[in-house]
Amino acid sequence: MTKLFNKLPNHIAFIMDGNGRWAKRRGMPRNYGHKEGVNAIERTIDACIKFGIKYCTFFAFSTENWKRSKEEIEGIFELLRDYISKNDNIFLSKEVKLNHIGILDPFPDDLKSSLVNMEKQTKNFEKLTVTFALNYGGRDEIIRAINNLLEKGEKSITEKEFLTKLDTNGLPEPDFVIRTSGEQRVSNFMLYQMAYSEFYFPKICWPSFNEHHFVKALKVFSKRKRRYGGVS
Ligand code: FPP
Repeated sequence: MTKLFNKLPNHIAFIMDGNGRWAKRRGMPRNYGHKEGVNAIERTIDACIKFGIKYCTFFAFSTENWKRSKEEIEGIFELLRDYISKNDNIFLSKEVKLNHIGILDPFPDDLKSSLVNMEKQTKNFEKLTVTFALNYGGRDEIIRAINNLLEKGEKSITEKEFLTKLDTNGLPEPDFVIRTSGEQRVSNFMLYQMAYSEFYFPKICWPSFNEHHFVKALKVFSKRKRRYGGVS
């Protein structure tokens, strides 16, 4: 592997865009795109394991996605429910730690408890940590963190203290952000954490994303020169 890439990202964040367009082009309903999107998540988790990536995060449901139709929202919940609850799920079968960022409160009770239960069962796995961003928004996360600090009576804090109040506490910052479908936006995803992330925008829609695209992305990352505001 080291021959293929001179460096690899420790944490990759995926903005899985293009599910709706992918389905529409095939004359299918939007939820068919999300269904195939779940298969792309599974392929991507497998590829992360294969190439030794330690953390990956998927933007599965944003604080803004509540604007979508009830049918589409319920379809996404159903996919998530099936994916987490199946007996041979990837988390248990491949020893992958499951984690989430975002506020689960508005989600159906059974979905919340299967998520929390799977997180408990996989909490000691170390090979790969998969985080699903669920009812997540970067602005919402920052405001919640500030309110938390205000409630504690804090007058002044350090960056280090602030980080502990974010949903991502304990996760490294994403080194690499991949947004599929050719759109080039951040869409309220990990705003604070992406300060020094590298970005990549392949044209392919998320349901088509596979190991070939993943390897191509890793090659792009391995050529990036990260300077963090310094000089190389
Ligand atoms: C963006 O494409 C996709 C989403 C907002 C939803 C992604 C959700 C899943 C793949 C299912 C979640 C399930 C699990 C197991 C985490 P879009 O619908 O905005 O595409 P478009 O821009 O072409 O309309």
